[in-house]
Amino acid sequence: MKKPSDSLSMPSQSPSDENARSLRWIKRAAQGCFAAIATGQGLFLTFILAFYYPTTLRGEWAHWNAKPLIDGFKVGDTIGNLFFAMHVLLAAVITAGGVIQLVPAIRIRAPSVHRWIGRIYMVTAMILAVGGLWLVWGRGTYLSTIGAVGISADAVAMLTFAGLAWRSARARNYAQHRRWALRLFAVASAVWFMRVGYMVWGIATGGVGIGPSMDGPFDFFIAFGNSLLPLAIAEAYLRALERPNKVARYGVTALLATSATIVVVGSAGAWFVMWKPFI
Ligand code: HEM
Repeated sequence: MKKPSDSLSMPSQSPSDENARSLRWIKRAAQGCFAAIATGQGLFLTFILAFYYPTTLRGEWAHWNAKPLIDGFKVGDTIGNLFFAMHVLLAAVITAGGVIQLVPAIRIRAPSVHRWIGRIYMVTAMILAVGGLWLVWGRGTYLSTIGAVGISADAVAMLTFAGLAWRSARARNYAQHRRWALRLFAVASAVWFMRVGYMVWGIATGGVGIGPSMDGPFDFFIAFGNSLLPLAIAEAYLRALERPNKVARYGVTALLATSATIVVVGSAGAWFVMWKPFI
């Protein structure tokens, strides 16, 4: 039986209060996670602009190989080198574009900017996906078949999600568009996430399961995990937002907070090990 003092001491929370509170938490965690991703991708962008832009635009393509790559520049392979040049130039466009697109203030205050960057982002995603597929299967730039299949699956997801994000935007179905655009961002960030993932794993385990030719168990896991993990987290976030289930919302809040921590550690590692030494 309820004691009279119960209702006097603490006002009991109604389910709607609790839902509103869990919604606030998940949104805060999403903002924190986005800030971590934006910072990490900002470091990747800095590296691309400082290392690949000067060498590519000045025609000093042989200098790409100052960094360890699978193929990079190859003497006599004009088509392959051209594809690589286009790939690294567009890598900066998609990395900057994705982060800008997710800033709510730009979407709300400058919708025409959002629409134009959105078009550029989706076209760039498609060119990078097709160009990347050619680099892998046409030029033969891969270390393991499983790795090649994993990144190709990511390219197919990029093409599919870009098409669906575009179609829902044209149909003015903005709720659908937002979902497909977030999924596109998740899979288009896979190559960046792979670098972050390698760094965190290396720091945490000393590199257990990483093979000499990227053919160990961790390499196979990350070949698909680089797109499937961010996609699963984005999906969990979208579902938790839509359904007023506080347990799910707090669970996803914890997941986002953990992801943000992983992104911060991995991005810092990637900056000091993979990017900064070459610029
Ligand atoms: C959309 C996001 C993408 C970005 C931002 C991106 C970025 C980059 C960058 C910066 C490099 C230079 C290598 C380095 O310095 O680490 C590179 C190389 C490469 N990328 Fe991508 N990429 C993307 C998508 C893809 C896709 C979807 C594929 C395959 C289907 C792909 C396949 C390749 C290949 C084969 C190389 C050459 C690696 C080498 O020669 O060592 N990329 N990419």
